[in-house]
Amino acid sequence: MMRVSLYFTPHQTDEFALRNQIVVVIDVLRAGTSITTALSNGAKEIIPVTTVERAVKISGSLFGDYILRGGERNGKMIEGFNLGNSPADYSEEKVRGKAIIYSSTNGSRAIDKARYAREMVVCAFVNISAVVEFLAGQQGDIHVVCAGNNGTFSMEDSVCAGMLLHKMAEDRGVDISFSDAGLATVALFKSFGRSIPKMLKNSEHGRFLAQIGFAADLEACSSVDTLAVVPQLVGNVIKLKREPEKQKAAKVNVPIQ
Ligand code: MLT
Repeated sequence: MMRVSLYFTPHQTDEFALRNQIVVVIDVLRAGTSITTALSNGAKEIIPVTTVERAVKISGSLFGDYILRGGERNGKMIEGFNLGNSPADYSEEKVRGKAIIYSSTNGSRAIDKARYAREMVVCAFVNISAVVEFLAGQQGDIHVVCAGNNGTFSMEDSVCAGMLLHKMAEDRGVDISFSDAGLATVALFKSFGRSIPKMLKNSEHGRFLAQIGFAADLEACSSVDTLAVVPQLVGNVIKLKREPEKQKAAKVNVPIQ
């Protein structure tokens, strides 16, 4: 049986509780979606940092060429950064081969809490089935950390967590011991997950993003399973768990000789 602990915000846990654990960080709007998009489009690695000062400090002499800075504060691109936090900012043209020093308000904080984890993977709707596949093959308990919204519950991350747990239990047959929080997310998914675009549009952060001119991001973040990749923390950086080509190859059915 796999025990799943679920945190609606990173504030409900800490780096010591997550040490040596298997951790999934969920940030649908928009860190999880943008990180997954960047790596899927060929970014070499994402270097997560919690402060703008740190991002500037570690940029070094290759900044602007091999190294880019991406992320947001109050939803908008940070002064002196090359990329904001819209998934569209992380196009192949802009990110292929680049290392991206990345800082966002909530997502980076959640990732930072999981820095001593045995495994830390990033999840959003765009890569949810790839994360389910990865988790189903793990031995041990799982901690799901929703990035939330400035220390409070966020609907989109909780619905995504519910979908993740539902898929693991129903599609993959994983025997899960649910916490009450986990059960609640599955109920939220069954109710609000019927129309993900509508749920994102109605969410607090979705409304905020639309208000400041990023309505198009909601559509990008509502896509389910468009990216079959798993971003994973390796040391201090986030890289793809496996190359997309290898994942595709793994899906080809080879007749048993
Ligand atoms: C965050 O990490 O706080 C978010 O990704 C905020 C956003 O850019 O929408």
